[in-house]
Amino acid sequence: KKTENQMLVIFGASGDLTARKLIPALFNLYVAKHLPENFVVLGVSRSALTDESFRDHVVYESDYLKEKLKKLGKDEIKGFADKLFYEDLGESYDTDYKTLRKRVEDLKATYKTSGNIIYYLSTPPTLYETIAHNLAEAGMNTQNNGWKRLIVEKPFGYSLETAKNLNKGLHQYFTEPQIYRIDHYLGKETVQNLLVTRFANSIFEPLWNRNYIEHVEITNAESVGVEKRGGYYDKSGALRDMFQNHLLQIVSLVVMEPPIGAEAEEIRNEKVKALKSLRVMRDEEALFQNTIRAQYVESVVDGKKVKGYREEDGVDPDSTTETYAAIKFYVDNWRWHGVPFYVRTAKRMPTKVTEVVIHFKEPHHQIFNEPGMHRKDNKLIIRIQPDEGILIKFGVKVPGQGFKVERANLDFYYSSLAETYVMEAYERLLLDAMQGDATLYARADEVEAAWEFVDPILNYWQKGKDVRMYGYSAGVWGPENADELFEGKGFWRNPGE
Ligand code: BG6
Repeated sequence: KKTENQMLVIFGASGDLTARKLIPALFNLYVAKHLPENFVVLGVSRSALTDESFRDHVVYESDYLKEKLKKLGKDEIKGFADKLFYEDLGESYDTDYKTLRKRVEDLKATYKTSGNIIYYLSTPPTLYETIAHNLAEAGMNTQNNGWKRLIVEKPFGYSLETAKNLNKGLHQYFTEPQIYRIDHYLGKETVQNLLVTRFANSIFEPLWNRNYIEHVEITNAESVGVEKRGGYYDKSGALRDMFQNHLLQIVSLVVMEPPIGAEAEEIRNEKVKALKSLRVMRDEEALFQNTIRAQYVESVVDGKKVKGYREEDGVDPDSTTETYAAIKFYVDNWRWHGVPFYVRTAKRMPTKVTEVVIHFKEPHHQIFNEPGMHRKDNKLIIRIQPDEGILIKFGVKVPGQGFKVERANLDFYYSSLAETYVMEAYERLLLDAMQGDATLYARADEVEAAWEFVDPILNYWQKGKDVRMYGYSAGVWGPENADELFEGKGFWRNPGE
């Protein structure tokens, strides 16, 4: 695909995301020669930086590029750094963007970037609408001399109502096709591969339904705690931070019907249908039975003391924000009728791993009754990270007399494709937006459908101490009570165990 000449304007340019993700992604695109010939980045924020100090901050002195810079010559590094510029907005984002506009016009003229512009909003979400409004006031959203696109970071809304309001707000100034809501999980190769596994093969899809699948399990675990983001996290929690967006996006790809083609709207139409078919839990009994939340507590890992969540910087000592969320739900449609989905996400787990496990039903009639055989052993594991791959677990006969069955593995790992360069999520997604491909971005109705499902859980949990809250030590797989979701018919599969 062609990448037209353009400019990328990053709001929130002095922030962590810009240094940690956006600039390294652009740097990789530059090295791989994916950036268009005439291209500049204009960083915008309230910090008093100059072009030079911005370049120092995000390139020359950046911890995130250090290793990469070692591999490049001085001229090449300068070639990239010279594409970066900075404009200080002064006191506030809510200001007249006339000066900003002038800077954009000047850069456009000097570097012949054409009128194509992406505005990347990497600011606190409360500013998204303000920025869109001020861009419009300054006439910077008009498309008569080149396209204008708006990339919006997560979190997209804080609840169903705020997400709807944000959509409405942004739509005043930008049309839906101009808006790119980023969810970096969709930029992960293995998440996209869910579509390929399902719809480019004929061996999985015939089994992908209630007749053959017993239950679906998705685990997203991180070994880190909230790190330096206590202030943000305490107002968010696992459900908002990971489940509403990343995990429900994965769910939608597992659940969706085959799209009629691979175009953005065709895929997104099916994802919306999938999200709308999740059974929303409305009454307290359902919420009590099917949702589990927990917080990590002070503990000792490898002889070292690890702070409990409530002791972390920026966290309220009485906080009822969850760092662990496990949800069981059903999908009300023809394909998935009666198949439970178990989805969990947490910080301070034993390891960092994300995987989808499709558990297949037992054969209807068992003829091998030898002891030691694993009955419920047909599993398809889609390992999203790390050790990305697809693993199939099935039974084989143990050589010798009788019919003893043992588990065998048919495992494919991406690492075996050693020659292939796997793009980082942000790299892939930025390049897609630069080329106008919104397939891997969330549409307004998708985000709202995901909130519809999450909202009642949040409201229920917000009742605070009246609703049960478990504690778990760092380095374990969450509270033991989380197995209660399986109602005696199973338990969580802990990756690697
Ligand atoms: C972010 C969350 O969206 O995703 C973080 O805000 C989380 O809390 C991160 O750590 C996880 O992303 P990844 O790509 O490391 O799995």
